[in-house]
Amino acid sequence: MAKQQADNITMASGGTYSLATRGAKDVIDRATPRVLKAIEGLGIPADRARFTMADMGCADGGTSLEMVSAVIEAVQRAAPGVQSTVVYADQPHNDFNALVQIAHGLGPFESWSRRFDNAWPLVSGSSFYLQAVPDTSLDFAFSATAMHWLSEKPCEIESHVHMVGASAEEHAVFSARAEADWLTILQHRLRELKPGGRAVFVNFCRDAAGHYLGNTGGVNMFDTLRDIWHEFVADGVINSEELARMTLPQYYRTVEEFAQPFDAGLLPGMRLESIETAQVVCPYAAQFQADADLETFASGLIGTIRSWNQSVFLGALDGSRSLDERHAIIEDYYEAYRVRVLDDPTGHGMDYVHAYMTVVKDS
Ligand SMILES: C[S@@+](CC[C@H](N)C(=O)[O-])C[C@H]1O[C@@H](n2cnc3c(N)ncnc32)[C@H](O)[C@@H]1O
Repeated sequence: MAKQQADNITMASGGTYSLATRGAKDVIDRATPRVLKAIEGLGIPADRARFTMADMGCADGGTSLEMVSAVIEAVQRAAPGVQSTVVYADQPHNDFNALVQIAHGLGPFESWSRRFDNAWPLVSGSSFYLQAVPDTSLDFAFSATAMHWLSEKPCEIESHVHMVGASAEEHAVFSARAEADWLTILQHRLRELKPGGRAVFVNFCRDAAGHYLGNTGGVNMFDTLRDIWHEFVADGVINSEELARMTLPQYYRTVEEFAQPFDAGLLPGMRLESIETAQVVCPYAAQFQADADLETFASGLIGTIRSWNQSVFLGALDGSRSLDERHAIIEDYYEAYRVRVLDDPTGHGMDYVHAYMTVVKDS
């Protein structure tokens, strides 16, 4: 089950992830002052020889390049002779070719690894549900927009594609899985961090107003994803078993759920220093407000939406269909979403809603 999940949650490949997800970079940019405060909190002495950080669930690494660059610059300012290692980790089916290209500055972006002599990228295929580096080896851990992916799909959500539309019973099953997963994630980071080490996690959430990704007052993105699959069933394009499998193995936690293992005393030696929620506006919707270019808006928005869910939907289609047929259904599906936006763009978009948190391991 878990293996199959890992197979199905790859982001768009070939470096297109970072090109298609400008908003994810905006989210990391918004987190960067918090990251730099955490680095300052490490109190790195001027004679420090080594610094090690990890970016967990990094995809192709493009969206965090500037944040990592700012970290290395801050660390080198504190300790001019320091040598730094950046461990880029993602699940084994990630597009590691794109990651290596981007981290080494051979992709479409400028990389920090070309800018600094004393800093090196290393790549790991370890899930954040595992310990990824030896005990007490990390000064700093970072993860953005990744830890909503559960370790497995705990049940199907019958009448929706996401837990935000689950029944009370389904929600309870997803919530129990998410609670156990969050504790596992933190327990591994507790072992990996050095005493006094820090982590910044930027995770999708449901905020106090009940808002979440793609649901901030306009058209609900997840309801649209559900509605189009329901239409495909009604039109006989897919069958109801396939529809039932269209369940994204994700969970959007609340601030209370992020705080729960700390409040419950389940993580002795680790504390949640601060947590806040914030929205980052959909860059495609913002651009459309400015230039009224509907075609570009619809294509950009659908590109960013499909970059993180098409592999799950493709995996839910029946294996008896040819791969070509499965791909054709997927293309028709996102085209149907695009046409909806073209017909009436009002309220469409994918605003990001995240919890930004800093976690500290005791010295
Ligand atoms: C939306 S991307 C975020 C990428 C990047 N951190 C960003 O903010 O732009 C989510 C990433 O999480 C990764 N991911 C999902 N489950 C994971 C796991 N268990 N361990 C490590 N990475 C995981 C996916 O492979 C994907 O690359």
